[in-house]
Amino acid sequence: MSADLDLTALRARFLRVRARTEALAAPLSPEDQQLQSQPSSSPTKWHRAHTTWFFETFALAPRGIAPVDASWSYLFNSYYEAVGPRHARPQRGLLSRPSCTEIAAYRRAVDARVLDVIDRGADPALAEVLALGLAHEEQHQELLLTDALHALAQHPFAPRYREAAPAFGAAPASALTFTPFDGGLVTIGRDAGGGFAFDNEGPAHRVWLEPFALADRLVTVEEARAFAADGGYRTPSLWLAEGWDRVRAQGRTAPAYVDDRDGAWRVFGLDGARAPEPAEPVAFVDYYEADAIARWLGARLPSEAEWEVAARACPIAGNTLADDPAACALRPRPSPGGALAQLFGDAWEWTQSSYAPYPGYVAAAGVLGEYNGKFMVNQVVLRGGSCFTPAEHLRATYRNFWPADTSFQVTGVRLARSP
Ligand code: AVJ
Ligand code: FE
Repeated sequence: MSADLDLTALRARFLRVRARTEALAAPLSPEDQQLQSQPSSSPTKWHRAHTTWFFETFALAPRGIAPVDASWSYLFNSYYEAVGPRHARPQRGLLSRPSCTEIAAYRRAVDARVLDVIDRGADPALAEVLALGLAHEEQHQELLLTDALHALAQHPFAPRYREAAPAFGAAPASALTFTPFDGGLVTIGRDAGGGFAFDNEGPAHRVWLEPFALADRLVTVEEARAFAADGGYRTPSLWLAEGWDRVRAQGRTAPAYVDDRDGAWRVFGLDGARAPEPAEPVAFVDYYEADAIARWLGARLPSEAEWEVAARACPIAGNTLADDPAACALRPRPSPGGALAQLFGDAWEWTQSSYAPYPGYVAAAGVLGEYNGKFMVNQVVLRGGSCFTPAEHLRATYRNFWPADTSFQVTGVRLARSP
C-alpha cells in the first residue's frame, strides 16, 4: 500500500469521502439504519460507526489520540483479531445503542481529530493509513447500499430508498460482439508506488494467456430472461454441481430481487420495484448463475488476467457512484455501445479466478495485514466495479472478492471465449 504525500489533496479527499457516506445514509431513517436482514449484511449505522472506528484505531491511536469512547472498539471492530475481542457479526442489528445521533456525533468528533492531525504537517505514514482508511470507507459505501437494499427488500410493501430515477429508454441491446486478444506473456497486478492500491493487487507478475475474446458489453436482462424461459434453471447440464444443488434446494428460477411470479420480470432496486428494461445488464446473479448463463450463451467467464489485460487500456469511466447519490442511476444501465463497454461500473463482473494470493504476495506485518490476506480461500474474484462503487475507488488491477453463492451484491456477467 502506498500513497502520495499531498496533504492538501488528502484533506480534501477525506472531507469528500466522509461526506459521501453521510449523504448515502441520509435517505434512511434511524429505524431503517438499525436493520440487519442477514448475517452477512450490517446495519447502516454500523457501517457509519465502523468506518469511523477504523480511522480512530489505525490513524489516531498510534499518534497518541484517545478514542471517543474506548468501549466502542468492542462494537465496531469487524474482524481484527490483533485489536481485540468484538461483538458477533450476525448480531450487529441488536446494537440499539449508540443511537444514530450519537454515531453522527462520533463521526464529527473523529473527523475533527483526523483533520487536526493532517494539519500538523508532513507525515508519510499518516498519508498511507488515511489512503487505506478512505479506500476502506468507499468499500463500505457500496456495502451500505447493498445492505440497505437487502433490508428494504424484506419489507412487504417494497419501500424505496429514493424516488425512481428516469427510465433509460427502451432501445434494444446492441448485438453481442466480441473483441479478440492475442494473449501471450502479460504482466498483471501492481507494485507499490504510483498511488494507492490494496496489497492484494500485487506483486505485479507475469501470466501466460492463450488467445481469447471478451464480450463488448455485459449480459442483459433480456438474455438472462431467455435463459430462464429456455429452462435454464431446470437443466442440470448447464450448472456446476454446487450451483445445481443450490438452485434445487432454494427453488431458484431467477436472479435475486427478481419477481417472476407473473411470467414477466419485475426487479427490486433502490428505486423500488419496476419492470426492467430488456437492454439493461442483469445483476444480482451469483457465480453459479453467471457461469450457467455464460455456458447457455456458448461462452464462459473470463479469468481475472484476461479481464485486466483488456481493462487497462480502457478509461475508468462509466455508470458508477458519484459524490451526490441523487445524480446517480444506482442501477445498471444499458450499454452505450462500442468495443469493451461497461468494463468499469454498472455491475461487478464475476471472473473464473479463485481469490488467491499472487505469486510472492505476503500480507503486511502487523494488524493491517489482516485486511485482505486472511480471506484468500473459498472466494471468487470480481472485477470492474458497479453502479454502487465510487468511481475514484476503481482501477484495472482492483480485485473484489465474494463467495460463489453471493447474490446480494451488484454482480453481473461479462462473457469470454476461447477462439
Ligand atoms: C472486499 C467487499 C469482500 O466486505 O469484507 C470492508 C471489503 N474489507 N472492510 C468485505 C472490506 C474490510 C470486503 N469485500
Ligand atoms: Fe470494514
